[in-house]
Amino acid sequence: MRHLVTVAGATGYLGRHIVAALVEGGHSVRALVRSRASAEQPGSFGAPSLEGLVAQWRIVDYALPSSLRDACADTDRVISALGVTRQKASPWDIDFLGNLHLLEDAERHEVSSFLYVNVIHSDTGTSLTTRSKHAFSQVLKRSLVAAQIVNPSGYFSDITDFLLMAEKGLGLTIGDGAAKLNPVHGADLAEFIVAKCTGPAGAWNVGGPDIMSYQELEQLVFAIADRRAHILRLGPRTVRALIGIADHSSPQASNLARFFLEGLGQEAVGTPIGTRHLEAYLRSL
Ligand SMILES: NC(=O)c1ccc[n+]([C@@H]2O[C@H](COP(=O)([O-])OP(=O)(O)OC[C@H]3O[C@@H](n4cnc5c(N)ncnc54)[C@H](OP(=O)(O)O)[C@@H]3O)[C@@H](O)[C@H]2O)c1
Repeated sequence: MRHLVTVAGATGYLGRHIVAALVEGGHSVRALVRSRASAEQPGSFGAPSLEGLVAQWRIVDYALPSSLRDACADTDRVISALGVTRQKASPWDIDFLGNLHLLEDAERHEVSSFLYVNVIHSDTGTSLTTRSKHAFSQVLKRSLVAAQIVNPSGYFSDITDFLLMAEKGLGLTIGDGAAKLNPVHGADLAEFIVAKCTGPAGAWNVGGPDIMSYQELEQLVFAIADRRAHILRLGPRTVRALIGIADHSSPQASNLARFFLEGLGQEAVGTPIGTRHLEAYLRSL
């Protein structure tokens, strides 16, 4: 069955892949964006341009709830990949409040489901990003619409930073880097999301097909960069000290330090999905 799906965060790495996968699946898309012109440019990390893919454009400002009014009118389903990653905004204002205002509109228009892209283990993180995402996922679970919550491990896009660091000759692990992750390609995750978004409520921890430790990830990126590995191994006391310094510096520094350092030290393995492999992706850059 063909659905009209409202997509928030449509211009991001994952959002662009979601729009492309929806269209590929025969659905039509209402994209909520800040700028149509930039949406129609190619995205970062190989994510597609939205030119020719979007049936309806809505220009929104998540700081102005009134601009979200009727964003979900006449749509069957909502998908949100909205969240602050590299942008300059408070995660609370966007990941929590922006999604909340969108959910309120979805409830008003009685959409069938709201699929939210959360992050794996948001329930244990102490950064403002993970707290904001977890808070929204809890609100969504109690809402009037069917709640679909996808909790991914890292994306290939973010793993690019490890390769960039290796090219500069630097690596970083917490302890011996034994914590594992399975990063996922945006296109693989988008296919999973599109398959789930027309079904019932649920929650899914997901990742890519390759499960590796941070130590193995560092070995991989240094091999691709063809550099001798210099890996800085941070112990728990250093991690605590760095977070303390960041906390006293600024809310942004605190959020970044907590998100990044906690992430590096924590197991982040979801059910493997997809067919795209990290090594092939990194070698293609
Ligand atoms: N990257 C990862 O490894 C990872 C892992 C697990 C979960 N996630 C979650 O997955 C979601 C998508 O991630 P992504 O890597 O695709 O992020 P992304 O490329 O930064 O995309 C985020 C989207 O949110 C929008 N957005 C962010 N701040 C905004 C603001 N202040 N006002 C309006 N729009 C704003 C962006 O719009 P613009 O394009 O206009 O900036 C973009 O459409 C996020 O919620 C993220 O937390 C990411």
